[in-house]
This record gives sequence, structure tokens and C-alpha cells, in this order.
Amino acid sequence: MTTFETFLDAQTDALGGDLVAVLRAVAEATRKISDTLKTSSLDGLTGATEITNVQGEAQKPLDILSNDILLDACRAVPSVAFAVSEELDAEVAIHVDGRYAVIFDPLDGSSNLDVNVTVGTIFSVIEAKSADEILKSGRHQLIAGYAAYGPQTTLVLTTGRGVQIFTLDAAGTYVMTTADAKITPEAKEFAINAARRASWDDVVSAYIEDAIDSGHNMRWVGSMVADTHRIFNRGGVFLYPADRNKPGAGGRLRLLYEANPIGLLVEAAGGEAIIGNEKILDIAPTSLHQRVPVIFGSKAEVDKLATAYRARVLEAAAE
Ligand code: AHG
Ligand code: MN
Ligand code: MN
Repeated sequence: MTTFETFLDAQTDALGGDLVAVLRAVAEATRKISDTLKTSSLDGLTGATEITNVQGEAQKPLDILSNDILLDACRAVPSVAFAVSEELDAEVAIHVDGRYAVIFDPLDGSSNLDVNVTVGTIFSVIEAKSADEILKSGRHQLIAGYAAYGPQTTLVLTTGRGVQIFTLDAAGTYVMTTADAKITPEAKEFAINAARRASWDDVVSAYIEDAIDSGHNMRWVGSMVADTHRIFNRGGVFLYPADRNKPGAGGRLRLLYEANPIGLLVEAAGGEAIIGNEKILDIAPTSLHQRVPVIFGSKAEVDKLATAYRARVLEAAAE
């Protein structure tokens, strides 16, 4: 049996003690969030608050609590210089002598909280000694991961050497359940919010039409973490495209703490993650809460979409 601690010990030479301490603290925070979620209705942690975050979304009590748990985790590690969160307007300076920024979506899929459906925490660690080093492409991520809080609590992470999956046992210890997770290159299943089809571009519309015609199945949990976890287990493709009626608005999901960490995990597991004609991990961010279109999953499926986007760019250039 490989526990998370044993795994961390084995990573110390490659990552260095400071980065391992950051990862240990973030994992411990996800364990606390998992505990808090289990009895949240009994503790009155339901519904929404009157507070809206910088993106105009009503915060749930558990969004705020999870954010606080992660902030406390950052404060406890001297090498953390900054925290960036969906629930915070701007980056928060943590330790002046720190070296890393921890970037997180404290609770992903929080609209699913009150219906007892899987939610998650998404996180990423980059080197950033000053605030102006935070906006860099996803290729610079040192660690990325998510915790999925479902029937089981599962921690999925990459430190640059494949993807490892841990499951929380009854005693609160993360135990490795997959040493080298891979996303199957082909799978006939897609995840998209079909209610928004009037806003899809022609590439996405054609892909989905073709997928339905060729017998693909559809799933949409409404928590990207849960949809991602399914793709890790049986493949498929996830799409949250830009709204073609709102040019320049990006998409729904945020680059720094949703698209980038999931993009790194997906690529590390042999999948692909794109925004259209570009890979998610190659985008140079312009702001902390920037939204981007997101397409990721099984390589063969994502390649079909990437090829169609490339053809569109070539057609436009030829006109
Ligand atoms: P968050 O709860 O962190 O704001 O993120 C929710 C995201 C993502 O988890 C999910 O895939 C998507 O929003 C769902 O969007 P729709 O409500 O448009 O289906
Ligand atoms: Mn989210
Ligand atoms: Mn969230």
C-alpha cells in the first residue's frame, strides 16, 4: 500500500522539500473540505449567502469555508508567496519570502451542493516570487490536481511524472489507487450543456451532430471535476465552448484555476486539452479570472475538433 505520505517522501528529491510541503498542505485542506461537506446540511451550511464574488456569482457558505480552509493551508507553509482563488478579487500576498503561488477553485460545481452531487477542489502551483509572475501559461505549472468529493473522496494529481490517483480511507489517509492514470484515446461519450446549443460555433455544432449520429452517449454532471473524473476513468470529451453571441467573452470556465490545472492533468494522462486552434496550456493569461473556451479528453475525439478548427483558420486565411 502506498500512502500519500510515502508518495511525497519519494518525490522530495525531484520536487524539493518546499514544494512537497505545499502539496502536503493542499492535500490536507482537501481532506478537511471533504469532512466539512459530509455533514454540511446538519451544520446549516446550505443555500447561498448574500455575498457575490468578483465574477458576480452568489457565494455559497461552503464556497467561502473551502476558500478559508485553503487560505489557512497556504498561510501555514512559509514557501507560499501568493494565493489566487475564484472567490478572491485579486491575489493575496501570503509570505514575503515565499516562492510559490497556489491557485485554486475551492469548490467546483457548487450549484450541485444542495442536491448532494459530486463537487470538487481544483488547484495548481506555480513559481511566483512577485505578483507580476502569476500570469504565465499553464505549461509553467509545477503541480496540478483536483479532489473529487463524491461517494469516495479522490485526489488526482500530477507533479510532472504522470498522474497519480489517491482515495481517502476511513481513517482520513489518502491511499494510492492508481499509479499511472491514462485517458483512453478513444471513447464514444461527450459532455456538454446542450441547452446552450444556440450559442455554439459551427465546429462544435457539427462535432456534436456527428457524435449523436454515430451513437455516442452524453453525460453532463454540471461539476467539471466530476465530468473530468469520469473521463479519467472511461474516456470521452468535455466541451464548454465560447458563446458565439458574445464575441471576446471567452467561455464560462476560468483559465487559471479551472482550465489550466485540468489541462495539465489531461495532457499528463495522454489526453488533449484545447480552446479551439490552440492548446489550453499555451495560452498567455491576461487576467486572474479570465474565461476561456474549454475542450478536453480522449485524444482521438479532441483531435477531430482541433482539425476542424485548424481547417476553419486556413479557410479564413484563404478568403
Ligand atoms: P463553479 O461552481 O466553480 O463556479 O464552476 C461551475 C462550472 C463547472 O463546474 C461546470 O462544468 C459548469 O460550471 C456548469 O455550467 P452550467 O451551469 O452552464 O451547466
Ligand atoms: Mn469551478
Ligand atoms: Mn468554484
